[in-house]
Amino acid sequence: MINFNLYNPVNLCFGKDAHEQLPTLIPQGAKILMTYGGGSIKQNGVYDNVRGALQEFEVVEFGGIEANPEYDTLLKALDIIKSQNITFLLAVGGGSVIDGTKFLASAALYEGNEPWDILAKGIRTEVGMPFGTVLTLPATGSEMNSGAVISRRSIGQKRGMGGPGLFPQFSISDPTVVASIPHRQLANGLVDAFTHVMEQYMTYPTSATLQDRISEGILSTLMEIAEPLLKDPSDYDTAANFMWSCNMALNGLIQKGVPTDWSIHAVGHELTAAYNIDHARTLAIVLPSMYRYKFEQKQAKLAQYGRRVLGLDGSDFDVAHEAIDRTEAFFNSLGINTKLSQYGVDTTGIEKRAAKQLDNYGWVSLGEHKDITPADVEKILAMAI
Ligand code: NZQ
Ligand code: ZN
Repeated sequence: MINFNLYNPVNLCFGKDAHEQLPTLIPQGAKILMTYGGGSIKQNGVYDNVRGALQEFEVVEFGGIEANPEYDTLLKALDIIKSQNITFLLAVGGGSVIDGTKFLASAALYEGNEPWDILAKGIRTEVGMPFGTVLTLPATGSEMNSGAVISRRSIGQKRGMGGPGLFPQFSISDPTVVASIPHRQLANGLVDAFTHVMEQYMTYPTSATLQDRISEGILSTLMEIAEPLLKDPSDYDTAANFMWSCNMALNGLIQKGVPTDWSIHAVGHELTAAYNIDHARTLAIVLPSMYRYKFEQKQAKLAQYGRRVLGLDGSDFDVAHEAIDRTEAFFNSLGINTKLSQYGVDTTGIEKRAAKQLDNYGWVSLGEHKDITPADVEKILAMAI
């Protein structure tokens, strides 16, 4: 097992009516900027619950953070933080609102002239403005990790950032919010969380027995709850299992002590940057081709997954192939297409464009073996069209 430090200071407040804890979680006298997205919180009661709990606080609102949060929009919120002397941020939304707020937490204390440098130059955030979250969409795990991904459409980029200063102080995770999530976003959440586990598990056999079993447990749970969740997202226990699985998939625990891949995300972000395709859908497009392309190196672990999670029998070779097919079929069963050409976009030249962009970023050696080059990315994307 590889040496590791495990540090996660997030106070996860999980369960029905957890928002009632808000007044005790936010520092007394804080001046809050409450950030949110396109307005779903005003339809499902979350907005009223949060505002009700914040009666004793001075609150400024900033709505309109898009899916795949846009840098230019966030700069407007940054102006408000500075001009109105905000001291605490509260993100109310899904991964996009939370990630956008993490950017704000970093940029608010950043001393350079150009906040985009935090992303473009990979500047780690050691200390950020304190913030909390009220999660409305299980998927990314952003509510309990210290990473964020920000898009800047004017230059066609989607870049990541992170650092210990970007852990939320607390995250309200109330599974009753799942009831109002549309089918498309539920399916996205399942695939995103599933792929998060795969990025940290589907590498090569290691001695990390417990990490493997936890990962397999999350994968099995996501597969088990998928159908009931899509049928009835208002079922509390199904929603709770969904929310907790998505959190566990990317709160940092299962990556400890093991090699990780993350090439599917790196390539997927280029598809969102090019076409604004939902994050999870880009993963569903890339994963099957990535695993077919890297079959030889991943065969042993694919076979382990095939036997333990999918219950398959046979030789490593056969089980591993079948495991990729079954995973693709699982994504399809959720209504998610796994070929880029099914998304109604002009695919001409995307392989070269994505490879060139990764090259520009210096991302020239992806994967657990650091052997996926831009030339490989071109071939993988050609298979995914
Ligand atoms: O904007 P509103 O009106 O709130 O609507 C949102 C949005 O349109 C809606 N929604 C959220 N909660 C809802 C709801 N609708 C009804 N009822 C509710 N309870 O869902 C739509 C999508 O929301 P979004 O936040 O964009 O989705 P998600 O949570 O999947 O976040 C995606 C973003 O997170 C990044 C992705 O790249 C993408 O930008 N990721 C962040 C990660 C992290 N920080 O650790 C890791 C991930 O791999 C990922 O890259
Ligand atoms: Zn993801």
